[in-house]
Amino acid sequence: MSEKIDPNEVQKELEDIVKSKFGDNVKIVTQKMDFDPLNLTQDKQEFKSKDKKIDLSFNLKPKDVFNYLEEYVIGQDEAKKTLSIAICDHYNHIKKIEEKSSHISHYSKQNVLMLGPTGVGKTYLVKKLAELVGVPFVKADATKFTEAGYVGANVEDTIRDLVTQADGHIELAQYGIVYIDEADKLAGSRKVAGKDVSGRGVQNGMLKLLEESEVDAKNPFDMMAQVNSLMMGGDDKKKPKTINTKNILFIFSGAFWGLEDIVKKRLNVSRIGLGTSEKAIKADRNLFAEVTTKDLMDFGLEAELIGRLPVRVHLNDLSEEHLYHILKDSKESIIHQYHDAFDSYGIKIKFTDEALKEIAKKAYLEKTGARSLMTIIEKFIREFKFELPSMELAYLVIDKELVQNPKQVLAKLKKQFSH
Ligand SMILES: Nc1ncnc2c1ncn2[C@@H]1O[C@H](COP(=O)(O)OP(=O)(O)O)[C@@H](O)[C@H]1O
Ligand SMILES: [Mg+2]
Repeated sequence: MSEKIDPNEVQKELEDIVKSKFGDNVKIVTQKMDFDPLNLTQDKQEFKSKDKKIDLSFNLKPKDVFNYLEEYVIGQDEAKKTLSIAICDHYNHIKKIEEKSSHISHYSKQNVLMLGPTGVGKTYLVKKLAELVGVPFVKADATKFTEAGYVGANVEDTIRDLVTQADGHIELAQYGIVYIDEADKLAGSRKVAGKDVSGRGVQNGMLKLLEESEVDAKNPFDMMAQVNSLMMGGDDKKKPKTINTKNILFIFSGAFWGLEDIVKKRLNVSRIGLGTSEKAIKADRNLFAEVTTKDLMDFGLEAELIGRLPVRVHLNDLSEEHLYHILKDSKESIIHQYHDAFDSYGIKIKFTDEALKEIAKKAYLEKTGARSLMTIIEKFIREFKFELPSMELAYLVIDKELVQNPKQVLAKLKKQFSH
């Protein structure tokens, strides 16, 4: 083959063939980096791998991690504590392997299952953790796995994403963290057109990954990679590259709607059995804290999957007080972004404490956790964002009055600054 090959052209042609045969339902997955018949990226890649070392300088203690999280995440102390420990354990284990100083022949991973209502900091906690520790980290949505027509490959894609995160360094990827969001969507086995595309199939696909398995570093469904292999005359078959999942930490997370009812029912039944009154379960009792393996099974998770997620964390509903502190004290409070937005027009804004409390109060009623904070602010601030930049106004105090009666306050301002 002496002619120069344009990978894009080949891909286009393949896509056309596939499209004409199968229609729009089948897509070609490509990893462009793999298409390198002339071996152009080979040297660079090798250099990178040699260069990239696993950072063994991590010497944080659980309390250090906790204190770091404390700056961003308000409340959720139990979750912060549990995750801090899990991360330190994971990292110290990696260190021991790398330094070959481990005395144990078998290590049971402490994969985590996070439960809790929506918008209370589950994803946020894990995001901040990943930023802190600096191991390769991927976040995947469980719905992505269940929607697809073919099951296992998508889950394995997530593992391959770790390698991308680790700049192609497989060894580093093998110490990564995989965060599976919306894990509650894995539950049940709703049959779609006779095929079990959700639930059990995906859960089973995950079992071996959670334990230990070898994932092909190349997507077997990746046509470009296959073509590439052929062109290289099977050259790269010499060393099949796989990713071992033994030391990858998994964190599953989900809102698990309906799980609380399952817990409540169980508690009620046992209470009735004991002859006590049925109405005894208090409204403010966090039922997520009392979830058992059996409850999760009733919800629709496989016992084998639950068993591989030994560390359970529950997150609490955020109170009005929490919401206020999220605005006031969290390092990444959305308040900053409103300051920025107005600052772009040369307008300084200031939220009074009373205003923050009022926003928290309104947000609390929405019952969507911290996400409702923005919903509430957007509602009253929109007209101000529209009108103020065109007015001769350099300073705006956002007080309780403004939060409660935005229209009237704006009308007053407009009168004042109309000439
Ligand atoms: N406890 C909390 N402390 C500070 N901010 C929070 C907290 N919970 C949620 N947030 C804010 O709300 C956003 C959405 O929260 P997220 O973690 O994605 O919710 P979920 O629990 O549904 O995963 C976060 O990006 C963060 O800005
Ligand atoms: Mg989330």
